[in-house]
Amino acid sequence: MSADLVIVANRLPVDRVTLPDGSVEWRPSPGGLVSAIEPVMRANDGTWIGWPGGTEQDLEPFEADGLQLLPMSMTQAEIEGHYEGFSNGTLWPLYHDLVAKPEFHREWWDSYVSVNKRFAEKAASIASEGATVWVHDYQLQLVPQMLRELRPDLRIGFYLHIPFPPAELFQQLPWRRQILEGLLGADLVGFQLPGGAANFVRLVRQRVGHKTHRDLVYLPDGRTVRAAAFPISIDAAGFEKLALTEAVVDRSKAIREALGNPRKIFLGIDRLDYTKGIYARLRAFAELIEDGHLDVEDAVFVQVAVPSREQVEQYRILRDDIDRLVGRINGDLGRIGRPAIAYFHTSYPREEMAALYSAADIMVVTPYRDGMNLVAKEYVACRTEDDGALVLSEFAGAADELRQAWLVNPYDLNGMKSALLEAYRSEDKDLTRRMRAMRKTIRHHDVAAWADSFMTELGSVSHSSHAKAVRPAKRS
Ligand code: F6P
Repeated sequence: MSADLVIVANRLPVDRVTLPDGSVEWRPSPGGLVSAIEPVMRANDGTWIGWPGGTEQDLEPFEADGLQLLPMSMTQAEIEGHYEGFSNGTLWPLYHDLVAKPEFHREWWDSYVSVNKRFAEKAASIASEGATVWVHDYQLQLVPQMLRELRPDLRIGFYLHIPFPPAELFQQLPWRRQILEGLLGADLVGFQLPGGAANFVRLVRQRVGHKTHRDLVYLPDGRTVRAAAFPISIDAAGFEKLALTEAVVDRSKAIREALGNPRKIFLGIDRLDYTKGIYARLRAFAELIEDGHLDVEDAVFVQVAVPSREQVEQYRILRDDIDRLVGRINGDLGRIGRPAIAYFHTSYPREEMAALYSAADIMVVTPYRDGMNLVAKEYVACRTEDDGALVLSEFAGAADELRQAWLVNPYDLNGMKSALLEAYRSEDKDLTRRMRAMRKTIRHHDVAAWADSFMTELGSVSHSSHAKAVRPAKRS
């Protein structure tokens, strides 16, 4: 097996699920990473290395939907140490502004190092001479350097899908220097926003002592590493096309009907994660009913919470908190056939998501911190009639581009209430003006443009004379 393009991500685009009867099913894995990388994979016959979930060992490479997949197994101890522990108990809260308290455990770090090493070795073993290897996300920050040591001929790119924190927070990490050095193994380190890239360069200067100039880091061996922002996006045309299909249009009407044809539907769709600000947004909506500004006869809040990281304690606590809150709000404010909140703890296929986006009048995306938030962009792509309102946290990466949304500070409950009410009461003319501008932005900057710009940049900064060119992704 040998590949000119290798994608290395913690997860494969599909999860292996063993059903009660012992049979095996592959399901799309959670998160926006998959849909973003798929087009460039297809254009280059790439191979994707990643974990399919679970503890199954010795899985064989396979093809799914035309993609070459190379599953990496993890033991229970690695899931607990590398994935639930260091990735999601240490790095995730640390990189998201300490929304929860990160835990620092040396055994978690050891597990993170050994899993990163295994991924690097696997990539090294299948990449062809001069191939491009694109490593993704915070679970694999040591892979670039480990890979470079094994295969100096490769062109290596790294992309961080989540925020990169300011030095003041990052330096709490006992292994801060190792992480920075791990990332410096790449030729190009990509971030969602310019602020993340600047944080990284500043930390490299302060903590590793390398010379830097603007977005460049000069290594003692003569290599140059570039750190820059590449805000990720979605397959905008694909979503738009989906939203216009008869099945989705019909399903969207059926959803409105099933909800009792309220005047306005509010919608939240998030992985059930404490960074997403679900609790505060539901409280804000409930208070608007209590204050008499909204009535359950006219308005309902549909909240979809996609199960996520359920073995991590913080996520279990959050689930219980939201269950209790929804129960209390509906118990206090709902009427027969008119809940204030329609709550679903599940994940839906793309078609159902598109139908929900089409049915919703006000999309509410209020994370305390988020790398980008693709849900916000998907909603905009699905509003084919240039209507609908987006209430968006200032602390989501998407807020940098979607300036015409109602931007809110999710820590300010009254501010959120005002924005929800303004969006609810706003006139069609205002909605159209805002949505049109946002749709233009998204159409212009879609996921193919994102992948192309990263790959083009990687091609131009790479030092390797053996490196082969990578084809851009095709638009749908
Ligand atoms: O985008 C952030 C991210 O952590 C991805 O790396 C990941 O695949 C996705 O969210 C879903 O999280 P998890 O893999 O932990 O289920």
